[in-house]
Amino acid sequence: MNCFSRRQFLSGTVIAGASLAARFPWLANSTETAQESAGPARVVIDPDRCISTLDRNIFGSFIEHLGRAVYEGIYEPGSKFADSNGFRTDVLKEIKSLGVPIIRYPGGNFVSGYNWLDGVGPKKDRPRVLDRAWDTTETNQFGINEYVTWCHAVGAEPLIGTNFGTGTPETTVALLEYCNVDKGTKWSDLRRSHGYEKPHAIKYWCLGNEMDGPWQIGHIPAIQYGIKARDAARQMREMDHSVKLIACGSSGPFMPTYLEWDQQTLEQCYEEVDAISLHRYFGNAEETEGNTARYLSMNLDMDRQIHEIMAVCEVVGGRMKSNKTLWLSFDEWNVWYRARSGTAVDGQRKVAPHLLEEIYNLEDALVVGGLLNTLIRRSDRVRVACLAQLVNVIAPIMTNQNGLFRQTIYYPYAWALQYARGKALEFAVTSPAYEVTIAGQPAARSHESMSVPYLDVAGTIDVENKTVSLFILNRDLEKARDLELVWHESTPTRVNTCQVLTGSDLKAENGFDAPDRVVPKSLDPPQLGSKMALQLPARSYVLLNLGLA
Ligand code: AHR
Repeated sequence: MNCFSRRQFLSGTVIAGASLAARFPWLANSTETAQESAGPARVVIDPDRCISTLDRNIFGSFIEHLGRAVYEGIYEPGSKFADSNGFRTDVLKEIKSLGVPIIRYPGGNFVSGYNWLDGVGPKKDRPRVLDRAWDTTETNQFGINEYVTWCHAVGAEPLIGTNFGTGTPETTVALLEYCNVDKGTKWSDLRRSHGYEKPHAIKYWCLGNEMDGPWQIGHIPAIQYGIKARDAARQMREMDHSVKLIACGSSGPFMPTYLEWDQQTLEQCYEEVDAISLHRYFGNAEETEGNTARYLSMNLDMDRQIHEIMAVCEVVGGRMKSNKTLWLSFDEWNVWYRARSGTAVDGQRKVAPHLLEEIYNLEDALVVGGLLNTLIRRSDRVRVACLAQLVNVIAPIMTNQNGLFRQTIYYPYAWALQYARGKALEFAVTSPAYEVTIAGQPAARSHESMSVPYLDVAGTIDVENKTVSLFILNRDLEKARDLELVWHESTPTRVNTCQVLTGSDLKAENGFDAPDRVVPKSLDPPQLGSKMALQLPARSYVLLNLGLA
């Protein structure tokens, strides 16, 4: 990789503890999700107590022009699976049946050097260019129009990232005009001349990507970025009042400018945008010193990050005396810590090189389950979130020329997509807890000890279909745990499904040779009643879907 990577940046930095959190002590301890108890765990479920109506877009994903995500992932004209558009039908079918609601594109770091005009018009005339973010040769055979066509085919809404690196408000607005204006203007007529008569009507737009990071092409200070975002946002709204605009927030709590970047940015563009982005990748290496008990608690770090960014929004909005509440777009999140250096991030000028091809194991899937629980619980404020990414690049789906396989993290994600519907439930949960030492991350709290509930519970109620879904992470590495479900107001009448993702080997992975090594299995369902006893195997993530009268 030519440019300064996220990883190099992190390892070369002493992470300063001085953040807004230090200045606002009330931000601390905001991640509790359960009360500790010495006895058995208990969750009290009252179908009338809800956090929010779930925006399905919190289960979105992400496809970047990176490695084999686009080429050999979703688009491969030469493949035996290709349709007349060159889309891989096996992958397309898989994503369509998953029901991914929204997909971010085209980057990521890639977008900050991307000229969208290179990817439109007759394919034979499109230039091969050098992508400087990943040092890859980009053929431009897949661009914005192919992406929108593909999104329609898989049933997903597009979320477009715009170039705030080498790009300007002018190039951003030109892209919006190309996509969303009907006809009679320079860019809308260009789209029509490319064979797309109807406007694409793209609603969601990210104003840049990780602009706080020195690794980002065109990285600028927060105030400058905020002014640029304000300018672009005003012009974009003038052109299309229906757009939803997401300002670029911090790349994560590891940044020395974490929270300050968000505050300074929003001070410039609070009134012009709808949301701010959050990014976060988790790992079981330096961050945890390989301690899986700590690793399984990391969704609580995501909870805390959400609280902290919400607090910044409140501070800025409050000081501006604004009536507006910003929502959050957690538009990059996942486990990513293995394929993060050397040839795994260096494209060496190849077309579609194997980059960021992380292979996930069982413990990663449990962490992803916990992260989904956090997103469900914070759905009052998080309205968009993207599992980064979807195919081949830190992804639940991996392809080769003969087909695809589902990584371990596919399963908790698929459960959320299929079963987390309607409203997010607000629970009273009590759970025994364990103590764990914070290792590498967050650095400012390193060696503090933290109390972590063994059980992490999230749930949704679908009032129309009269179903409740519970998603339960058992972080106990040794023992099965009992959970008592206490129902208020209504009692379940049937168990629709009860499944578990678990195993004796936390490091077990799926692959082309063994695609079903880690897959969900059915779990003994609890007896129906106003009090129900559910036993959760050690190191497991459980889905329980119940019917109500
Ligand atoms: O998702 C991989 C990369 O991670 C993205 O390109 C970038 O935004 C982030 O640093």
